[in-house]
Amino acid sequence: MSRAGVDERILHFLRETEGFLSGEELSARLGVSRTAIWKHIKGLRLKGYRINAVPAKGYSLLSPADLLAPMDIGSGLATRRVGREIICLKEIDSTNTHAFRLAEEGAAEGTVVLADTQTAGKGRLGRTWLSPPGVNLYCSVILRPPIAPLAACQLTFLSVVAVARAVEKCTTLVSEIKWPNDLLVSGKKVCGLLNEMNAETEQVNFVVLGIGVNLNMTAEQLGNGLRHPATSLMEEGGVAVDRVAFTRVLLEELDSLYDLFLTQGERPVREEWLARSDLRDRGVTVVMGDRVLQGVARGVDQFGALLVERPDGAVETVLSGDVTLQKRA
Ligand code: BTN
Repeated sequence: MSRAGVDERILHFLRETEGFLSGEELSARLGVSRTAIWKHIKGLRLKGYRINAVPAKGYSLLSPADLLAPMDIGSGLATRRVGREIICLKEIDSTNTHAFRLAEEGAAEGTVVLADTQTAGKGRLGRTWLSPPGVNLYCSVILRPPIAPLAACQLTFLSVVAVARAVEKCTTLVSEIKWPNDLLVSGKKVCGLLNEMNAETEQVNFVVLGIGVNLNMTAEQLGNGLRHPATSLMEEGGVAVDRVAFTRVLLEELDSLYDLFLTQGERPVREEWLARSDLRDRGVTVVMGDRVLQGVARGVDQFGALLVERPDGAVETVLSGDVTLQKRA
């Protein structure tokens, strides 16, 4: 039986047992040693399962109901790479920080870290990402693409397009991509992406795709700022979104886009990104620190930079900044 198979059987037996199940009984049912059972229990704990171990009594599973469970998300997932290993945590400072650490320790490509809540969720530009428990998706995916560091930003296209596809599949809402990596519904942000990378000069070692989606946050929880108004899919659609179902769809879309990226390069993903964004030929204001640039957006280049045509006709390449779209005339 595979490692995941043993994990699944252990969870199954613990779920159907009221009280404790001894290590001896588990080892007899699964045909593996008690030491092996203990190793699996430790592995399951690392994945976020709360398993009580009491000498002379055995093991019991504690309140699994509010956890995103790896088995629920991973079983039957139609992916090649993403979700090979799924780790669900009840609480963590940041799924990105945790995934980064795991990647440094050698975690495989496709490892996914999910958390019910983050105590120090990280946003872009050093901001914090509001991460209350039980309502949203906080997800980090480890990828090891054979690309140069300069090309890593192309993976941002990939993540935001995957979220846009998942929103399309799981809700009736229309979403729109805002450069560089926000997804908006009715002009308000529902998703944020933070990709972090470890690289040598010429080769990426790994990238952590950090994805936060506001699924079921209420208006009170959102407590809106005027400059960057945010919303949740539930607030916009009027119905709660199933977190497990959404996560499964998202991981499948990420996987198929990553496959496309590896086999056909960045262009097809960038084209879908452009089609889902409202950038082309739109008046924009870009704030870059103290500098404000006004012009007309002319799409994005292959490195994810925004192309802005200034009033004098020159096209400027913008690598980062806060963009506001002007209303269409
Ligand atoms: C932004 O500022 O728009 C980016 C927000 C990214 C939030 C996600 S939630 C999962 C992952 N873990 C983090 O700490 N940040 C990202």
